[in-house]
Order: sequence, then C-alpha cells, then structure tokens
Amino acid sequence: MATSRRDKADSYTLRARKDGYPARSVYKLEEIQASCHIVKPGDTVLDVGAAPGSWTLYTHRMLLKGEGRIIAVDLNPLNLNPIPPTVTAFVGDAFSKEIRAKLVENGPFDAIISDAAPMTMGNRSVDTSRSEWLAEQVLILATEQLKKGGNLVIKIFQGGGQQELLVRMRSLFAKAKTLKPKACRSDSFETYLIGMDYQGCI
Ligand SMILES: C[S@@+](CC[C@H](N)C(=O)[O-])C[C@H]1O[C@@H](n2cnc3c(N)ncnc32)[C@H](O)[C@@H]1O
Repeated sequence: MATSRRDKADSYTLRARKDGYPARSVYKLEEIQASCHIVKPGDTVLDVGAAPGSWTLYTHRMLLKGEGRIIAVDLNPLNLNPIPPTVTAFVGDAFSKEIRAKLVENGPFDAIISDAAPMTMGNRSVDTSRSEWLAEQVLILATEQLKKGGNLVIKIFQGGGQQELLVRMRSLFAKAKTLKPKACRSDSFETYLIGMDYQGCI
C-alpha cells in the first residue's frame, strides 16, 4: 500500500521520539547538513529560534561531536534535560537590544542556523510577512556576526520575499540556494535559504 506524505510526516515524529529529540524538525537540519555541510566539529554556532531544542541537540550530538559551542536563543526556554555542555541558552527576542548584545558577546560565529518562525495566525499574507521580517533580521545579524567563510541557514515561508533575500545572499556568499527538506510537512509552506562561504569580513 502506498504511503501518504502525512504518514511519512508522522513517521518523522515517531523517529524523533525514539531518537530522543523534542521535535521532528531535527530531520530537516539533518537533510540540510547532508547536502550543504553547514557545521563542523569545533565550530561556534548560533541557533536562532532554537526551542524546544531539536536542532540544538542534533548540532551538539551529531555535528560538533562535543567540540565547539552553541549559542541557542528563543522566546521560549529549551526543552532539553540536561542542557548539553556545549550549549549556552538565552531566552528572549533574538533581535532585541538586550539579547543582541549577548549574542555579540558570544560571537562571531562559524555558522548561524535559524528555524525561527512566527506564531501562525492562519492568514497566509500576515504569516508570510512576519516570516519575511524574521528572515531579514537573521540575514542582517549574519552580516554582522558571521565569520568569513561561515555558513547560514534561514527558514522562510514561501511567498515571503524569499527570492529577494536569495538574490541578496548570492552577493554575500560564494554559493546560496533554496532547499525544502523532505521532512517538511506536505501542507507546510516553509522553505530554507542556505548561504555557504560568507564573503564578508569580520
Ligand atoms: C519551528 S520552532 C523551532 C524548532 C527548533 N528548531 C527545534 O528543532 O526544536 C520556531 C521557533 O522560533 C521562535 N521564535 C520566533 N520569533 C523569535 C524571535 N524574535 N526571537 C527568538 N525566537 C523566536 C519561536 O519561539 C519558536 O520556538
């Protein structure tokens, strides 16, 4: 019997539970990493919109392999117990003056990974414009805090100015592209902008 995409999505949830991750989103980062090699052991990584913590935990376990640091920031606390030793977590708006100062203190970063998303209202144009705003803020942060040669992942809702951001990223990175992991739910309109090898200087 054929398996529907929704069944497949459920299988990601079950797998996340079995593997000890708080959210199925971990497999999106797994696919992005397999295709784009975003993080390597020893890196200092900024995880924006990190809660409940699957990307953070995956980065700690599988990408840094215990070597390196993760700065995780979210409006909500991480749901990880214990918090891995490589992780420093901040709770608050990543783009507020106060949190930004803490991020700058901990930067610059070899990689910035952002799965940040607005609370959806069910109104596609409102949701996409909020997502676009978040994505733009992450790109601005990256131009200030990414090391030369660094990599960037930004979630954006499709239709939310992704093409314009991609064009900007192509002028800042040696390579930039859009990637929609198979682990995204079939009814989700999210996608990811990936920038590899940042050309700016810090
Ligand atoms: C899809 S969830 C992230 C899931 C996470 N990557 C994981 O694997 O567990 C999106 C997150 O973005 C966060 N977020 C949205 N706006 C934010 C902001 N301005 N600053 C920090 N976090 C934000 C939300 O609180 C939410 O936890």
